[in-house]
Amino acid sequence: MKVTLRDEAETLAFAERVYRAMSSNGLVFLLGNLGAGKTTFVRGWLRAAGFSGPVKSPTFTLVEEYPIEERIVYHFDLYRLNDPEELEWMGFRDYLRPNAVCFIEWPERGAGLLPEADLEIRLEISGTGRIAEITAGTDSGVAVLARLQAE
Ligand SMILES: Nc1ncnc2c1ncn2[C@@H]1O[C@H](COP(=O)(O)OP(=O)(O)OP(=O)(O)O)[C@@H](O)[C@H]1O
Ligand SMILES: [Mg+2]
Repeated sequence: MKVTLRDEAETLAFAERVYRAMSSNGLVFLLGNLGAGKTTFVRGWLRAAGFSGPVKSPTFTLVEEYPIEERIVYHFDLYRLNDPEELEWMGFRDYLRPNAVCFIEWPERGAGLLPEADLEIRLEISGTGRIAEITAGTDSGVAVLARLQAE
């Protein structure tokens, strides 16, 4: 599924649609170049989930966490990961719990250690806007895509 996002507001609105189509857990990879809008997407998703505080890029901390009601949202940015093994050291597997939603920017840096994502969202710069392509990697991701397309 491909969506044209003409400006930042459309990226935020798209993230809200994805939020509404998702259930209470999931692993989402965010792919795309520097400045493609990956962090903007997570900000829009968290806003839709009711989080009103600041959403900063976890580039230096690798992960930020946001407790929202009964679930917890982890936002990873693996850009500065030197070695996928670092994910093991930080106990990455413990983050993928049944009541957790994980967003991962730059999942390529964790290649080989990350499981298949439920959803992959690829953001591409196109003129002054962006094109988002969303694909499913699991049955649960397929269900999310079906809900998105049915809107
Ligand atoms: N659809 C859009 N059209 C135009 N600009 C956008 C769109 N979506 C987001 N932006 C802008 O793109 C810029 C970079 O966004 P963002 O920080 O989310 O990128 P990123 O993919 O997370 O980059 P990085 O890989 O460096 O973390 C921001 O200024 C944001 O406002
Ligand atoms: Mg970012």
